[in-house]
Amino acid sequence: MDTTESVIRRMTRLAVEHDAVNLSQGFTDEPPVFDLVWAAVTAMLGGDDDQMDRLGISTLRELVPGAEPTALLDRPLKEVLAGLQGRPDRLNQYSFPFGLTELREAIAGYTERLYGWRPDPRVEVTVTLGATEALASVLAGVCTAGDRVIVPQPYHEMYPSQAAIFGLEPEYVTLVEQISAGVWEMDRDEWAAAAARGARALILNTPHNPTGTVCSANDLAWVAELAMRHDLLVITDEIYEHF
Ligand SMILES: Cc1ncc(COP(=O)(O)O)c(C=O)c1O
Repeated sequence: MDTTESVIRRMTRLAVEHDAVNLSQGFTDEPPVFDLVWAAVTAMLGGDDDQMDRLGISTLRELVPGAEPTALLDRPLKEVLAGLQGRPDRLNQYSFPFGLTELREAIAGYTERLYGWRPDPRVEVTVTLGATEALASVLAGVCTAGDRVIVPQPYHEMYPSQAAIFGLEPEYVTLVEQISAGVWEMDRDEWAAAAARGARALILNTPHNPTGTVCSANDLAWVAELAMRHDLLVITDEIYEHF
């Protein structure tokens, strides 16, 4: 199988090994949004939804009845939190492998607010571990070994690797750099010829890594028409949709 180590991981490994500045990955120094952190902490403390709500609004005096308030200040936080574990615990259980119901409903609502279309959260929304698992699941679900998959280049390194994992043949088409205009454009003749040769799917990444190109409405309409003409599935990687 023609797969290689991720270039990003390799550069990170080498940077650590040689104590070099690692330009291959972006490392943010901002903490996550606190509401997310808090939701994770309270969910892991267990109990039920009411207990999670209670932890968010109660004072320590209310949560640890009978404790001498000033003595509480001298107790390690870990010990105090251990005493706040919810019993019985209904939160830390088997989950839906395709994502919590509430999360899928929130994603459907968010999609509707942004795009004016509400996917059915029961059957049209699946939560994955990042774009990598999402693409792998889609390729495994809709392609069969031997299928051709159109990949515009330049591309993110995971597309050819994943194609190889599933025995698919990448067919590379070009985004052409128009240097004076500062844009990258689809070579429509080349893309149309690749679709006409009978590819199963096209992986469209917009906004695009590494060029930053955002497909115009005209480009998207053209791709949609091409896909319908050739019964081509379009798999979009829109990981940077808010950039
Ligand atoms: C275009 C593109 N797709 C997919 C990925 C992988 O995303 P994730 O880390 O969510 O699996 C990246 C990460 O850099 C990316 O730039």
